[in-house]
Amino acid sequence: MKGNFVYHNPTKLYFGEDAMNHLSNELKNYGPTVMLSYGGGSIKRNGIYDAVIAALKAVGKTIVEDAGVMPNPTYEKVLEGCRLVRDHKVDLILAVGGGSTIDYAKGVSASAYCEEDAWEKYWVNQGWPTCRTVPVGAVLTMVGTGSEMNGGSVITNRKAGFKLGKVFGPELYPKFTILNPRFTMTVPQYQMVAGFFDIMSHLMEQYFAGTADCTTDYINEGLMRSLIHSTRIAAKNPQDYEARANIMWTATWALNTLLKCGKGGDWEVHQIGHAIGLVTDATHGMTLASVSLPYYRHVMHDGLHQFVRFAKNVWGVRPEGKTDEQVATEGLECLEGWMKEIGVVMHSGELGVTEENLEAVANAVLILPVGYRTLTRDEVIDILRQSM
Ligand code: NZQ
Ligand code: ZN
Repeated sequence: MKGNFVYHNPTKLYFGEDAMNHLSNELKNYGPTVMLSYGGGSIKRNGIYDAVIAALKAVGKTIVEDAGVMPNPTYEKVLEGCRLVRDHKVDLILAVGGGSTIDYAKGVSASAYCEEDAWEKYWVNQGWPTCRTVPVGAVLTMVGTGSEMNGGSVITNRKAGFKLGKVFGPELYPKFTILNPRFTMTVPQYQMVAGFFDIMSHLMEQYFAGTADCTTDYINEGLMRSLIHSTRIAAKNPQDYEARANIMWTATWALNTLLKCGKGGDWEVHQIGHAIGLVTDATHGMTLASVSLPYYRHVMHDGLHQFVRFAKNVWGVRPEGKTDEQVATEGLECLEGWMKEIGVVMHSGELGVTEENLEAVANAVLILPVGYRTLTRDEVIDILRQSM
């Protein structure tokens, strides 16, 4: 392990089929007015909405309804939520949904009482809240992003031409999250599988960085192996509770800051994915899947030692009689095979990337000077072309 770090994660998790039983009790820790934020209505169809309302009513809360948080939530929607918070003097934002709803809730929390331009302050300049913030709690219904136990808030601003992530500090992490794997059983297969790849991508973004022998890499390898095992089961039988529960727990640990301890991160696949999302509004996990293989094949030589380790420790590739390059290449072939097996989108062309909008996508890619290689804009275009 190299470097100094602080690890602080204050989110309280309630996990399992009975997790909802704790919601009413937890709500007693907050003031009388709760803003219930949710997406396009899936929670009304699968009964989660009724269960949440019952928990809120059981402890006499005043409920402010805040529906319609869209996948890839927009800054305009954040500003709408801010008005509701101020008008109703909201004491707690309860986000019920996937990463989009939880990210949105954190954005509203930090922006509602912000006296500056919140987009510029947080998402462009990566500043910290200096105003009052509103506590956020979560009920997770879709697995993938890790938003349930981190400070991430990824917001799309089409007027500004960017989809940007802000990672807030622990004061904006959800105070508590209800994690019931059963709640994820109604997620459509496409979204479910996109979430699976999102988890793998979070693991790889943090694995493919750094050079030291690091405990964190061993933890990461264990999570990858568990994820590969359980997603193979869940892709065939989405109702397999054990597999879905393992995947939910893996997703939470994949992006709650544990795996960056003692190392950096790469995150270039996410930057390219966000740019595709901005231009096409495609599902986050699928944008990552569509560019990952061209990206990793491109940077493999720059971080060869770690790609060899990935092949051996995650996929069980035998190194005898092979060059490092052959071993690393075989590891990426195994990744490709697993992606096809679970059924992710393999080409960005299927998501709407075309020769016509390629420049627009490339212009929206943030190039990060970390990871094994800092891309040039031409390399970004090459990777995008290969991904199509
Ligand atoms: O809106 P509803 O009707 O709820 O439908 C949603 C949505 O259409 C549906 N869904 C969710 N739970 C369901 C369900 N449908 C049936 N049954 C259920 N139980 O699934 C669709 C996708 O939901 P969404 O919240 O958009 O998905 P996800 O959790 O993948 O979140 C994606 C957003 O998170 C950001 C992404 O960029 C994207 O904007 N990310 C957040 C991160 C973080 N906070 O750290 C990191 C990630 O890398 C990612 O960037
Ligand atoms: Zn992601």
